[in-house]
Amino acid sequence: MGRSMSPASEHLPKLTGELTVHSEKLQRDFTVFADKGQLKQRESGPSFRNEHPLAWAIGSGGNGLSFIVQRGEHLFQAPLSFYSRVGRWDLSPGYEFADYGFNRTIAAGCINCHSGRPQPVPGTNGQYQKQPFTELAIGCENCHGPGRKHIALRGAKTAIVNPARLPRERADEICMNCHQAGDTRILQPGKIEADYRPGMALNDVVAIFKLPRSKDTDLLEHHESMHMSKCYEKSTTMSCLTCHSPHSAKIDYNAKCLSCHSDHPAGGGPDCVNCHMPKRDVKVIAHSALTNHRIVRKPDQPLPPARDPGSDLIHINRTGKAELPLLTRMQAYGQMADREPTYYEKFQALLDEASQKEAQNPLVLASLGRRALRANRFAEAITHLQAAREKGSVSSTTFEDLGEALSRAGRLEESAQVLQQGIQAAPYTAVLYKSLALRFIQLKRFEEAKQTLTKYVDLFPEDDFIRKLLAQVSGAR
Ligand code: HEC
Ligand code: HEC
Ligand code: HEC
Ligand code: HEC
Ligand code: HEC
Ligand code: HEC
Repeated sequence: MGRSMSPASEHLPKLTGELTVHSEKLQRDFTVFADKGQLKQRESGPSFRNEHPLAWAIGSGGNGLSFIVQRGEHLFQAPLSFYSRVGRWDLSPGYEFADYGFNRTIAAGCINCHSGRPQPVPGTNGQYQKQPFTELAIGCENCHGPGRKHIALRGAKTAIVNPARLPRERADEICMNCHQAGDTRILQPGKIEADYRPGMALNDVVAIFKLPRSKDTDLLEHHESMHMSKCYEKSTTMSCLTCHSPHSAKIDYNAKCLSCHSDHPAGGGPDCVNCHMPKRDVKVIAHSALTNHRIVRKPDQPLPPARDPGSDLIHINRTGKAELPLLTRMQAYGQMADREPTYYEKFQALLDEASQKEAQNPLVLASLGRRALRANRFAEAITHLQAAREKGSVSSTTFEDLGEALSRAGRLEESAQVLQQGIQAAPYTAVLYKSLALRFIQLKRFEEAKQTLTKYVDLFPEDDFIRKLLAQVSGAR
């Protein structure tokens, strides 16, 4: 974990010469190469090249490394990753399906799980700024909490969190925060990821949800698997710390098993985990466990009955019986809404409830605005979306939706203004430039339309269609 993130240039030796991956589907070449001590990547097509230096590497490289590109004050994923188990560079996970170029923003979650102390910009929902880390790799404070008081009190033990002295749920949640991504994670109202401190209930900051199991698979994350073990269920003490000590390089797992199963004939035979915690053969960058943490009697043992069988979205880190805040539930179903109509319907019902109880919340207002826009109720959409802006929504979709609603209501000037504000707030959002250019054309402000497209092509050269369009328009003049 201490090598979870590093400067990209440290990985120059992984490269012998220039290396190109061709994508048949996208009709693109992706190249990784060294240039003046820097690691760089390039995307190229028949008539463009776009290259950027890599700033940081994510991962210690056990399975692989992904890279971060910094453009202005924003962080993006790089198109190629290094897959250590097969010793090869290839498209990053997800890039085989769509041409993201260098415009796929690094989700706040990646940084939060893979780095020491990220520095989100206040009020921007986890967006990162120029110096995004005060500590690059995972460090002491990720598990022990802030150390300032501990140092001021000359090392007083009471002034720092020792995970070993916490109740097991609280200790496990330190690990769970990074080792159990779930299907969706929703920040509790008003929280950012950095608000979580070891020793707190994780649920006070973030609620983690899983979809019900669709089929019996052991492709699970560590925390969930451990919870399905008889060892965990039937003992009152098993936690991640029973077997793992982040401070020991070598762990005798047999001794850990035997600490509870003392009646087992130990002897010199193969390790307990060989049979009871089998490993999977993983060649990709997977976010599920390599070592099966469901400790089973026999490898083909069926999974225990699902938790919360009636629920369509399972809140896996709940504490006690308290119901989740309405806003958290609404966002969770909102995240799942494209999956199946039932999630969408539930989201709509929760949004209705929120429109009564949380009428001033920017997220609620933005969602109401989007719903009205989709139903062609433009005046209503404008009212909600403008209110969302006033209440502090900085999401690029709020600008996009408001620009659209104003335009559909015939208010083209205002629409152009809003889109320009959106570009200032989220300068790497392609759709805002395209909408703005269209608005300028509708307003017959052709010079500004051309300037907007020029800027767009500069930022997103992989867009063949717009690039050719611009060349034609410029050529015609
Ligand atoms: C801030 C996020 C974070 C926290 C907190 C965290 N981990 Fe990790 N852990 C990671 C990441 C990321 C990796 C993978 C590092 C890599 O190889 O790039 C990892 C790797 C590991 C590994 C593999 C071997 C190793 O040491 O690299 C073990 C075992 C592990 N973690 C156990 C734990 C346990 C137990 C806890 C709780 C005490 C914990 N982790 C807390 C993020 C975290
Ligand atoms: C919920 C926390 C979490 C999030 C979010 C997350 N990761 Fe991970 N990632 C991990 C952990 C933990 C591991 C270690 C795998 C394991 O042993 O479970 C890992 C493994 C990796 C590895 C392989 C590292 C190695 O040393 O082999 C890469 C690369 C990686 N993640 C990149 C990313 C990227 C890019 C994102 C964002 C798109 C991301 N991760 C999001 C927790 C997370
Ligand atoms: C991945 C989580 C994790 C990280 C990162 C981590 N620790 Fe720990 N630390 C633990 C756990 C769990 C224990 C208690 C059990 C053990 O020793 O493994 C512990 C125990 C300790 C203890 C013994 C405390 C006592 O009262 O006995 C000290 C001292 C300590 N850690 C210092 C550090 C320092 C310094 C760093 C940074 C270089 C650090 N730890 C990073 C998880 C972590
Ligand atoms: C904290 C104590 C504890 C530790 C550590 C522990 N176990 Fe267990 N284990 C239990 C308890 C309690 C049961 C349930 C016994 C029962 O049902 O009577 C159990 C059950 C089992 C079972 C039967 C599972 C089933 O589905 O019937 C196996 C196999 C097992 N343990 C193997 C292991 C192995 C291998 C390790 C080490 C990797 C280990 N245990 C570590 C406490 C522990
Ligand atoms: C009963 C013992 C046991 C418990 C409890 C346990 N682990 Fe593990 N864990 C192992 C073993 C054994 C390995 C494989 C170690 C190896 O191959 O070197 C492992 C490996 C890992 C790895 C490395 C990646 C992988 O899948 O091989 C991570 C990460 C990890 N454990 C996280 C956790 C977390 C988080 C928890 C708590 C939710 C936890 N473990 C609880 C025994 C345990
Ligand atoms: C060669 C594979 C293998 C190894 C190594 C192994 N086990 Fe087992 N173990 C099994 C099998 C198979 C069963 C199930 C026997 C049955 O159900 O008839 C089992 C059963 C168990 C049970 C359940 C016993 C019961 O009465 O319910 C426990 C606990 C257990 N093993 C723990 C361990 C521990 C601890 C170690 C290491 C010291 C270990 N095993 C090593 C294959 C193995």
